[in-house]
Amino acid sequence: MRIDVLTLFPEMFAALDASIPGRARKSDSLLLKCHYLRDFAINKYGQVDDVPFGGEAGMVLRPEPLKKALDHILEELGPAKPHVVHMSAQGRIFTQERAKELAKMDNLLIICGHYKGIDQRFADAYVDEELSIGEYVVSGGELPAMIIIDAVARLLPGVLGDMASAETDSFYLPNRLGWPVYTRPQDFEGRTVPEVLVSGHHENIRKWRIKASLELTRKNRPDLFQTLELTDEEKKILGSR
Ligand SMILES: C[S@@+](CC[C@H](N)C(=O)[O-])C[C@H]1O[C@@H](n2cnc3c(N)ncnc32)[C@H](O)[C@@H]1O
Repeated sequence: MRIDVLTLFPEMFAALDASIPGRARKSDSLLLKCHYLRDFAINKYGQVDDVPFGGEAGMVLRPEPLKKALDHILEELGPAKPHVVHMSAQGRIFTQERAKELAKMDNLLIICGHYKGIDQRFADAYVDEELSIGEYVVSGGELPAMIIIDAVARLLPGVLGDMASAETDSFYLPNRLGWPVYTRPQDFEGRTVPEVLVSGHHENIRKWRIKASLELTRKNRPDLFQTLELTDEEKKILGSR
């Protein structure tokens, strides 16, 4: 998969050299290319922004540098047509389901806003999808873009040592949190690991995990819990003490 990023701060993406996204890049599962928006500025001073029409505080990214950069990236990609994502607090909330869908695409182009954001006319004309990482505002689209790239990269074939690990994480099954995990020592400051996990009884462990996952979802994300359609087995497990 190839991901192009259009940003005012390409250096921030060095964070994706580490850990799983770094492994994805080294293994060629992911080709990440950052493009510096100022290379497409409207003048020799590197101007890419301007004051908002209507008068309010802050600056807005002008549409022409964005379009020039887009044309450049499209030319570089040749026949491949990227899905164009704009990071925006006004977009749809990014979810694990969306990460799974994006991971199936060959080409993504992520546009990072800054200041007050990008001129709406560019978004209307050239953006396929606006994605938000949550109900809060950060200073630029770079960290949100990195979150999306990380979430997508770990789902690319061959990137995780054991794909089964992702399949037991929170949200792998929609609207469900994962279960708590434990490792050695069995006794930490008097707190012991749930007995069932050291019993070696696989069926009881499976049931404990279902129960723990559902209880955690009910406690921490009641909004998600109420959307779940529980199987008969899950209802029985949840009801049992
Ligand atoms: C200071 S914010 C602009 C906020 C914008 N004026 C608004 O009302 O939504 C600057 C940039 O950060 C990015 N950004 C901020 N919060 C975000 C979020 N929750 N999800 C995705 N991107 C976000 C966007 O690219 C945005 O253009």
